[in-house]
Amino acid sequence: MTQTTPLTVAVVGATGVVGQTMVRVLVEREFPIAELRLLASGRSAGRTVDVRGETIEIQEAVGDTFDGVDIALFSAGADTSKELAPQAVARGATVIDNSAAWRMDPKVPLVVSQVNPDDLAWHEGIIANPNCSTMQLTPVLMALRDAVGLERVVVDTYQSVSGTGAEAIAELEGQIRAHVAGQPKQAGVYPHPIAFNALPEIDVFLDNGYTKEEWKLVTESRKILHLPDLRISCTAVRVPVFVSHSEAVHVETAEPLSPERARELFAGIDGVVVNDDPATHSYPLATTAAGRDEIFVGRVRQDPSIPDGRGIAFWVVSDNLRKGAATNAVELAETLLERGWVRARSRRAPAGAPA
Ligand SMILES: NC(=O)c1ccc[n+]([C@@H]2O[C@H](COP(=O)([O-])OP(=O)(O)OC[C@H]3O[C@@H](n4cnc5c(N)ncnc54)[C@H](OP(=O)(O)O)[C@@H]3O)[C@@H](O)[C@H]2O)c1
Repeated sequence: MTQTTPLTVAVVGATGVVGQTMVRVLVEREFPIAELRLLASGRSAGRTVDVRGETIEIQEAVGDTFDGVDIALFSAGADTSKELAPQAVARGATVIDNSAAWRMDPKVPLVVSQVNPDDLAWHEGIIANPNCSTMQLTPVLMALRDAVGLERVVVDTYQSVSGTGAEAIAELEGQIRAHVAGQPKQAGVYPHPIAFNALPEIDVFLDNGYTKEEWKLVTESRKILHLPDLRISCTAVRVPVFVSHSEAVHVETAEPLSPERARELFAGIDGVVVNDDPATHSYPLATTAAGRDEIFVGRVRQDPSIPDGRGIAFWVVSDNLRKGAATNAVELAETLLERGWVRARSRRAPAGAPA
């Protein structure tokens, strides 16, 4: 990153699974921070957290806590974002929001760092970080869009419980313990036990029969890829995995594409790693992707159900807390800094104007 004046950065939802990962990623990537404000609900106010050897007290997120903040990373649910993000922007902060609150607002850029960073240019204070399942999918779809064109995409997800948050992680652990002890498995966060199960229900059901999670992947992918008419469908499934989402992807391309060429295209995308050697049982796994920032692709093969060599099938895995949430948010903050776009477009001096 280029040398720059350190900023005042706030993390909203700092006690949550994603918020804690955001703080970790900011530190790991040495984001230039003069002051780090950790915000959460009133329940956590007064608790302390050690960051880089400094003890920081958690504050309750209210309008005033954004005074003097340059960049606020929000990860405290859509209701909190709807209420507090405009208040933060009114105080001069730029918000990178991890919830679904603003993603489909046409006035808000929805950005994956290696897919559509130029969309950051027109932000007016709020930038949306995509849903975790969409995040890991769009860089690989971009590679196919640019090389051979996309006709149709079908995605089935296998999503980890950390995608739901801290309570769901505890629920899976509790059900595993109950199973070992021969006791009944109590379900609270999900409508059925998640341990030793696969639940085809993520977020609420919509009138069209899809779940909201499935529909997020459809609509967000179209917006990020600038393909408003992309034919894309999804089944989203929660599985008893702690971290990392996996996806089986079937794509019909406009032009023929061999698996060898597809692997080359995927490997050429920044932050994408191809791991594909059936002979050694080598393919992306949730357990090996966890803790990493890359998107892993494997099991690349021709889909014979589509004629003329225009069908390609593959498997995509990524850490939903890192690239799927925190890492992309920090990458967006880095891009804003590098390109001089931290301030909202209407508050920026025009390019070439005297400072
Ligand atoms: N987990 C993922 O993979 C993932 C990926 C993409 C997006 N997201 C989104 O990220 C957000 C947080 O997810 P999570 O998994 O980190 O959830 P989580 O572990 O349940 O944490 C929720 C966080 O939000 C805070 N919070 C709740 N109500 C608040 C309020 N009224 N004011 C301020 N802070 C409040 C909580 O603070 P307290 O501790 O004080 O209650 C906590 O820090 C959600 O919008 C989720 O959809 C998650």
